[in-house]
Amino acid sequence: MKTVMIHGQNHEGSTCMITRELANKTGGEIQEFFLPRDFDKPCMGCYTCFQTELKNCPHYKMLEPLVSAILEADLIILDSPVYVYHATGQMMNFLDHFGTWWVVHRPMPEMSKKQAVAISTAAGGGMKSTVQDMADSLEMWGIRKVYKFGIGVQAVKPEEIPARILAKIHRKTSYLAQRIRKNTEKRGCNVRARKWFSLMRFAHKHFPAMQPDHGYWEQRGWHAKLRPWTE
Ligand SMILES: Cc1cc2nc3c(=O)[nH]c(=O)nc-3n(C[C@H](O)[C@H](O)[C@H](O)COP(=O)(O)O)c2cc1C
Repeated sequence: MKTVMIHGQNHEGSTCMITRELANKTGGEIQEFFLPRDFDKPCMGCYTCFQTELKNCPHYKMLEPLVSAILEADLIILDSPVYVYHATGQMMNFLDHFGTWWVVHRPMPEMSKKQAVAISTAAGGGMKSTVQDMADSLEMWGIRKVYKFGIGVQAVKPEEIPARILAKIHRKTSYLAQRIRKNTEKRGCNVRARKWFSLMRFAHKHFPAMQPDHGYWEQRGWHAKLRPWTE
């Protein structure tokens, strides 16, 4: 099992602590990135990725190690503390770079073998919207199974987390690690991405072709019987 953790913050606080605990309990080879330390560029809106490919992004040199780690991983964990009810700006800046990976554009068949987790901590509120900020990308990349884990820690640093909440974190990470291990080797596509794939396939067949997406689908047989999650 290969795991990549991408932290939406540079510091090793409560959110990072939970992610590391989960990754260690899941086991295997672990790689770790911090944002903005390892990637600090906001999308410039140049559309180069949509019009050509992600490799031509002006930020690709800095993005490449993270892209490679994601593509090699069996498990992708994105985390972020809640900052004003949402994921950190640096996490959203990072995710903005992967618009072409969304199933409505150029689905990546390798996503159908992966699992992912979106993790968030807050003092008390905003975990759901923050976890969803990250899960939106993970699901729309077509990752087979996306787990969501948000928790109110009533603290601004790990040492302040009350004992009963810490115990809950330990229980939840153990349960999640067990589920992840049980689900390795499976293939498929989450329901949301599958639905959007079907809608887009209909659009490709009934509306003027948008390139290069249309050609990418045609070449892979997705306008016929093949699907990204069965390749
Ligand atoms: C700029 C900023 C905004 C925050 N916004 C919220 C918020 O909207 N809701 C909340 O409950 N906690 C909020 N917090 C508190 C953190 O989300 C919380 O302490 C979190 O557990 C910190 O995680 P960390 O230790 O990984 O940094 C905010 C903290 C900061 C610094």
